[in-house]
Amino acid sequence: MACQDSDLCNRQIPDHVKVVLDMDPGVDDAVALLLALHNPHLEVLAVTTVSGNVSLRKATANALKIMQASGKHVPVYMGASRPLGGRRPVHAEGIHGSDGLGNSNLPAARQRPEKTGAFKMLADLIKTHRRKEVSMVATGPLTNVAMLFKSEPSLVARLDRIFVMGGVYDPSVEGNVTRYAEFNFYCDPEAADIVMKGGRAIVSSGLDVTCDPACAVDAEMLAAISSAKSKSADLACRILQHPVSRYSQFNLHDVFALFSLLYPEIFKMERCSVRVDCSKKARGRCIVTPSDRGNVLACKKVDSVRFKEHLVDGLR
Ligand code: BDR
Ligand code: CA
Repeated sequence: MACQDSDLCNRQIPDHVKVVLDMDPGVDDAVALLLALHNPHLEVLAVTTVSGNVSLRKATANALKIMQASGKHVPVYMGASRPLGGRRPVHAEGIHGSDGLGNSNLPAARQRPEKTGAFKMLADLIKTHRRKEVSMVATGPLTNVAMLFKSEPSLVARLDRIFVMGGVYDPSVEGNVTRYAEFNFYCDPEAADIVMKGGRAIVSSGLDVTCDPACAVDAEMLAAISSAKSKSADLACRILQHPVSRYSQFNLHDVFALFSLLYPEIFKMERCSVRVDCSKKARGRCIVTPSDRGNVLACKKVDSVRFKEHLVDGLR
């Protein structure tokens, strides 16, 4: 499938991309983390955690568990434990298991989270890198990212792109929390609105693509991953096993955000401007205005065959 955006897709993906991953692991965050840690073109500078699928504490412990199980040592920094304004956090342990990792029972990590908080680290990290040298992949509620937009707009301008998993861009597609809202945007719509309307270059994967049934992991796909016979593939299978047998198939939402950075050519994207509804009635709903001058590239379709090939190859 040809990418629709010449700016993004004719752009040579550099051989070496420096990224910060902001996440709330979460089964699909964990698979995205595994893929990122082992991708030879990516340098994961840091992982920042946020309250979302599970509490901040559990999300942080999970990022560290994945790190340990894959023999990597990337620093993990704790971010926001609540949505902006201190509102009550929303979690999704019903979907991701009480441990947030599909009840995979991975051993606790020896590595500790860094003492510096995510927000301070991000500001320092952006300052010490060249302009446009660092990108972000954000696969949880956008609380940490929004705090940066609010307090350090000039630093945000130094980031290259922000690859987001969140939202629903086609009004005919239903949300996964309410009729209108996708989980990450529902958890912290105020944060999502700050980030999406902030004028920075964003590539966003919403439920329009991430729920494509042809990309979901089912028993057959799990067998394909398992046949990759690697440490990462085994780990991914261990995490996915319960969710797949419980729901018969599981969407790897967060992997799409990572793949929109690594393989933009497998997506059809549309340029638009996005606001996020913060009203009581439709919290987290995306208000999308197609526009050639919009700052958001919303992924609308994906080549499922190539998505699955990249998934299995990436875990090999
Ligand atoms: C998003 O919500 C979480 O459950 C997933 O990790 C993903 O980031 C999908 O709506
Ligand atoms: Ca997530």
